[in-house]
Amino acid sequence: MSASLPSDPRASLQHRVFIVGAGIMGSGIAAQAALAGWAVTLEDVSEELARRGVENCQRALDAAARRGTVTPSQVTDATGRIEAAIGLRRADAAEVIVEAAPEKLEIKRALFHEIEAFASPGAILASNTSSLPITSIAAELTDPGRLVGVHFFNPVLQMELVEVIPGLRTRPEVVERARAFATALGKKVVLSKDTPGFVTTRALAVLVNEAAWMLYEGTSSKEEIDLAYKLGFHHPMGPFELVDLVGLDTAVSILDVLWDGFRDPKYRVCPLLRSMVAAKQLGRKSGEGFYKYPAAAP
Ligand SMILES: NC(=O)c1ccc[n+]([C@@H]2O[C@H](COP(=O)([O-])OP(=O)(O)OC[C@H]3O[C@@H](n4cnc5c(N)ncnc54)[C@H](O)[C@@H]3O)[C@@H](O)[C@H]2O)c1
Repeated sequence: MSASLPSDPRASLQHRVFIVGAGIMGSGIAAQAALAGWAVTLEDVSEELARRGVENCQRALDAAARRGTVTPSQVTDATGRIEAAIGLRRADAAEVIVEAAPEKLEIKRALFHEIEAFASPGAILASNTSSLPITSIAAELTDPGRLVGVHFFNPVLQMELVEVIPGLRTRPEVVERARAFATALGKKVVLSKDTPGFVTTRALAVLVNEAAWMLYEGTSSKEEIDLAYKLGFHHPMGPFELVDLVGLDTAVSILDVLWDGFRDPKYRVCPLLRSMVAAKQLGRKSGEGFYKYPAAAP
């Protein structure tokens, strides 16, 4: 950390997180952080999207209460800690800034360039990317050493894992603070090098793509392939149920990143996935993917 900074610029930032992107992951991370006692600002490009993100936090917390994993009073307290925002101005008060915007390198780079202008010198910058190189996201920053990958899983309230990914220039202190943040939110941390897809996304992409190829080639039906993965490997969900949850567009973007990174034909995207994305059959978030979902599905 530079000698010109205040001795502990974190002192006034304690337990405040600013989340950029109020979609599936941003709202899940917001709900989890609020449950852990953090003050949360959830930001998106429009008031409507930011508000919808906060509503989705509420929905996820209510569902957790129905499952009995949190109490109704924890839900009330957590909800009271989440505010919606548009614009990055309020990022200056946060100890941790988490970016959960779409999986496109140019979007994330532009966002972090802007975030850097608002962030307190004591804040760490975290990207929830599931596949993009942390080193590339950070490349244009004045201080690339403060950016780290902090990869949560969907649905955030139910998934225990967080992958922490240091870029080539990430400072060890930033990695430790990312680990402490994830641990404070009740997660278990796995550290991964900054290689395409890290550990989990690389495994997931191949699993889903192979299932799509089998369906495309007529090996079996989607229901039977899902059943085979569940009963044959004890997976809690089949690959088509899983990719509907993740988003088919996200899955295709991930496979493209793996292809770009390794140039290995095993990451060749099944044409079925690409045409479903073109048809806007993105999974749960669009109401239809491999399966159909009622309009109010979370
Ligand atoms: N969906 C998953 O299962 C999953 C799991 C782990 C990680 N991720 C990663 O998390 C990130 C977000 O994915 P998601 O599934 O939540 O996407 P999403 O499409 O549900 O949400 C992205 C949100 O970002 C907003 N956004 C776009 N540009 C913005 C900007 N300039 N400023 C602020 N907000 C902006 C969009 O309006 C949208 O609400 C991606 O990097 C993705 O790879 C996704």
